[in-house]
Amino acid sequence: MLPAMFYHIAICMLFCGFNFIVSSCHQIDNLNILKENANQVTSSSNFLFGTASSCFQFEGAFLSDGKGLNNWDVFTHEAGHIKDGSNGDVTVDHYNRYLEDVKLMEDMGVNSYRFSISWARILPKGAFGDVNMAGIEHYNKLIDALLQKGIQPFITLTHYDIPQELEERYGGWLSSRIQDNFSYYADICFKYFGDKVKYWTTINEPHVMAVYGYRLGSYPPARCSGIFGNCSAGDSEREPFIAAHNMILSHAAAVRIYRTKHQKRQGGMVGIALDIQWYEPFSNSSEDIAATERARSFYFNWFLDPIILGRYPKEMVQILGSNLPNFSKNDLSKLSYGLDFIGINYYTANYIKDCLYAACEHGNTWSEGSYYVTTEKDGVYIGQPTGAPWIFLYPQGMKKIVMYMRDRFNNTPLVITENGVAENDDLNTSITDTLNDIHRVNYMHSYLNSLSNAIREGADVRGYFVWSLLDNFEWLHGYRLRFGLHYVNYTNLQRIPKLSATMYKQLMYNFNIQLETHTAHN
Ligand SMILES: *[C@@H]1O[C@H](CO)[C@@H](O)[C@H](O)[C@H]1NC(C)=O
Ligand SMILES: *[C@@H]1O[C@H](CO)[C@@H](O)[C@H](O)[C@H]1NC(C)=O
Ligand SMILES: *[C@@H]1O[C@H](CO)[C@@H](O)[C@H](O)[C@H]1NC(C)=O
Ligand SMILES: *[C@@H]1O[C@H](CO)[C@@H](O)[C@H](O)[C@H]1NC(C)=O
Ligand SMILES: *[C@@H]1O[C@H](CO)[C@@H](O)[C@H](O)[C@H]1NC(C)=O
Ligand SMILES: *[C@@H]1O[C@H](CO)[C@@H](O)[C@H](O)[C@H]1NC(C)=O
Repeated sequence: MLPAMFYHIAICMLFCGFNFIVSSCHQIDNLNILKENANQVTSSSNFLFGTASSCFQFEGAFLSDGKGLNNWDVFTHEAGHIKDGSNGDVTVDHYNRYLEDVKLMEDMGVNSYRFSISWARILPKGAFGDVNMAGIEHYNKLIDALLQKGIQPFITLTHYDIPQELEERYGGWLSSRIQDNFSYYADICFKYFGDKVKYWTTINEPHVMAVYGYRLGSYPPARCSGIFGNCSAGDSEREPFIAAHNMILSHAAAVRIYRTKHQKRQGGMVGIALDIQWYEPFSNSSEDIAATERARSFYFNWFLDPIILGRYPKEMVQILGSNLPNFSKNDLSKLSYGLDFIGINYYTANYIKDCLYAACEHGNTWSEGSYYVTTEKDGVYIGQPTGAPWIFLYPQGMKKIVMYMRDRFNNTPLVITENGVAENDDLNTSITDTLNDIHRVNYMHSYLNSLSNAIREGADVRGYFVWSLLDNFEWLHGYRLRFGLHYVNYTNLQRIPKLSATMYKQLMYNFNIQLETHTAHN
């Protein structure tokens, strides 16, 4: 490690020399001078700062200690699905190396850790068969290790993976039977962990599960039809809405259990985490502006409107008609339990062009909402490209999505449950460049500035989690995209901090100072 002063000058020159960063060297200067106090400030603030992970992408240990098979185990074991032919059998072995990983978090000075529980580790056969006490014990040990270091567990109940048994018995999310089975699983987690865990997320990215699993067929259970893909079965125009409907009602069933059985005594919060692209209209035509709002409905209001407002967005009702399931009286009473926070996974933005009134050569079909999504206008990208093919630098979207949520959902508390960027092994980035990830520090810095602006304008944001703690299994990309603040050597599974892991402390400190200054002035 370089002496602090040289290190500082080096970083400052890099930032300013490449003109990557929004802030001035002066600001970076302040960051470094005040570095010594960084630990104190982050731990005295209520704002949650952490890194995120998910069990399938991190744990490995795929049949250890009584775990059952899940849908992603089965899917990744079938040839041809994953770009580099890999799977999640070992991944970064977080199941066995969690103590080392908690130490990495302690070194970064974070006060929270977002991770998910493997449903098939707790209930190897879904809701059928016994609770696997070895699975319970594992998560209790992880939770205790975190709390010992003052790190709050922030738990997701399902992050894409469900027990394979439920797929085979009744088609997983396609069946309304999953609602009670999910709330049964949630009840077990609240019961065994809820005295120590104050933050719960029911489902991670239901939009991705519904669209990739049941419209495009690129994620399990690989169902689709017609022009959407080459699947052995499915109905791309109906099934995404049925699966999503069951996800919404599964969330509601789990929240009802928490509210009626556990919350009063345990005193935690429960929410849902959504993948969100910020959408900008391609032009200022009234058609493109309406299409942009329609796109937001078909993307994330699809889930939030029922949960918070008790109905599907009007754009979806109008276009989909009888393809959109209805909520019964009983469903509506479950939905009335709502949520305590909205989790936002925000990375990037797209332009939206109308295809309902104007013909679009490449537009989405009617059941997708009839709009064209693009990252380019007049040959210019919406933001600087990054290592992940779908992420373009768009920090201003952070404030915009937060303000949009505040206004539409009556200032419901928000948590940025994911934000991050990747290095791409396909681009042959050298190990030196991968470790010296100035691009990621710059990315986090600009998105955090945008977030603090939103908070200063009155948004109720409770936390920020970087995706991700470590490089890990990135779904269809396998191990070729590296989202970690720590590099993982996949030969020996050694973790090496990237520059961003070291700089995170200063970014947190800077953020807290901005907000404290703000509070002091009000
Ligand atoms: C799981 O779902 C099935 C089908 O609806 C139901 O028969 C069973 O009782 C459920 N199990 C639990 C533990 O809720
Ligand atoms: C389905 O497979 C056919 C034949 O291999 C191919 O031409 C077509 O592009 C595929 N469709 C999709 C949507 O992947
Ligand atoms: C739309 O109008 C706003 C306000 O006049 C302007 O700032 C923006 O650049 C316009 N957008 C486009 C795509 O023309
Ligand atoms: C939902 O209710 C509306 C209005 O009653 C009806 O038009 C629509 O067909 C129903 N949808 C389904 C899937 O039953
Ligand atoms: C990266 O290296 C591989 C193997 O050496 C090569 O096939 C590939 O074309 C390179 N990719 C780029 C973007 O240079
Ligand atoms: C990864 O580990 C292997 C085996 O120990 C070692 O040979 C290699 O140099 C390591 N790579 C990096 C980038 O540290």
